[in-house]
Amino acid sequence: MGSGIAAHLANIGFNVTLLDLTTHSVHACFDRAKSAKPPHFFVKGTADKIRLGSIEENLDWVKGADWVCEAIVEKLDAKRSLYEKLEALVDEDALLSTNTSGLEISLLVKDRSDSFKRRFFGTHFFNPPRYLKLLELIESGFNLDEDSAAVLEFLEQRVARRVVPALDTPGFIANRYGMWSMYQATHIAEKLQLSPEQVDLITGPFLGRPRSGSFRLNDIVGLDIMQDIARNQMARCPEDPYIGTLVNPKSVDYLLSQGNIGDKAGKGFYDKIGRDYLTFDLITHAYRQRIEPNLPTVTDNLRKPLAERLKLGLAAKDEVGEFMRLYLLPALRYADYLKGSICHSIQGFDRVMQWGFGWEAGPFEMIDMIGSANVLGANKQYYSAAGQLKPDESDHFLIVKEPEF
Ligand SMILES: NC(=O)c1ccc[n+]([C@@H]2O[C@H](COP(=O)([O-])OP(=O)(O)OC[C@H]3O[C@@H](n4cnc5c(N)ncnc54)[C@H](O)[C@@H]3O)[C@@H](O)[C@H]2O)c1
Repeated sequence: MGSGIAAHLANIGFNVTLLDLTTHSVHACFDRAKSAKPPHFFVKGTADKIRLGSIEENLDWVKGADWVCEAIVEKLDAKRSLYEKLEALVDEDALLSTNTSGLEISLLVKDRSDSFKRRFFGTHFFNPPRYLKLLELIESGFNLDEDSAAVLEFLEQRVARRVVPALDTPGFIANRYGMWSMYQATHIAEKLQLSPEQVDLITGPFLGRPRSGSFRLNDIVGLDIMQDIARNQMARCPEDPYIGTLVNPKSVDYLLSQGNIGDKAGKGFYDKIGRDYLTFDLITHAYRQRIEPNLPTVTDNLRKPLAERLKLGLAAKDEVGEFMRLYLLPALRYADYLKGSICHSIQGFDRVMQWGFGWEAGPFEMIDMIGSANVLGANKQYYSAAGQLKPDESDHFLIVKEPEF
């Protein structure tokens, strides 16, 4: 991730130094960045402008830096011990930040000086930074308002990010909610015995989301990363009544046990063989040929506006309707539950899902489209539309702490 951030900054004209643990490791990760697909660099020559060094031998190169953006391994102790060394070296007016997926920012700087804490922020980039423009900005709890405003402007105007300020809570907005939504889709697919192809068709452009849908997205993110983030959140949010959804679905446990963690390992829910994909069967746990889904509720309505598609899907008396009622309605209620504690505004929450995950509409826009009474209130017309699911069953399903899937 650090090399992706370095590439983005070099692309837009910053002088960049990239340090990793050792000279060997910095060259190894930079070589991967240079051959990344899609490419990290606008033009090849830009890579040569980045100075490479090691933390072991060249940490003093941070002297004179305007911004020290740490993006080392997601471990609290490793980050904290690096800051201890940095504190003696960085200029007194340098901006300091961490690229973390969800560690507590105030804890990271707990033992640092007031000056360090005041200049420190969480800058959560999305991967790959050249292409995904969202950045969650998290204050350390010690920043001055004018500094926070200046950093926000710098990140928007000079670093070309779409910045959403988020509160210092586990996983911030993107990983707290995005990861939960991904887990939820897998649990419901298993419960309803739907295939990855069916779920990806329902949760792709039909829901106003990228073609990767749910299972392809799992493979892109990596099941190991998802599990790390999920475990971190379960440990830190025991009071969250929805947190049981982050227990690994059976298929995820099985794939992890086989080392099939997604694209990094060559296969996960899908196994790409030449131009074709084999699919991991959620029931037999074996790979099989692709089965083209036959879901007219999706394919016949793709050109309708999103609000109409949502209502049609929720009311449908088929697999699409069943999935949407069990997946989408609790997901929207979870957003409503979280809104008071993780974001500054529901617009910011929506933007994170739009800019970071490529959703056409964030959860609060979707609640408006469906009608908040239908999602949150007493008028639960969509639950009973198919005549198969009683409201109390679906409520129970996701608000117990350790649901049985
Ligand atoms: N990869 C992503 O998609 C992504 C997205 C958003 C945020 N992040 C966050 O960015 C950070 C980096 O992510 P990553 O995927 O590149 O992580 P990573 O696990 O690949 O580690 C990054 C680098 O840290 C170095 N490292 C390991 N131990 C170290 C130590 N004790 N001191 C100094 N350096 C050490 C490694 O050599 C490695 O090159 C993490 O905090 C991660 O949560 C990652």
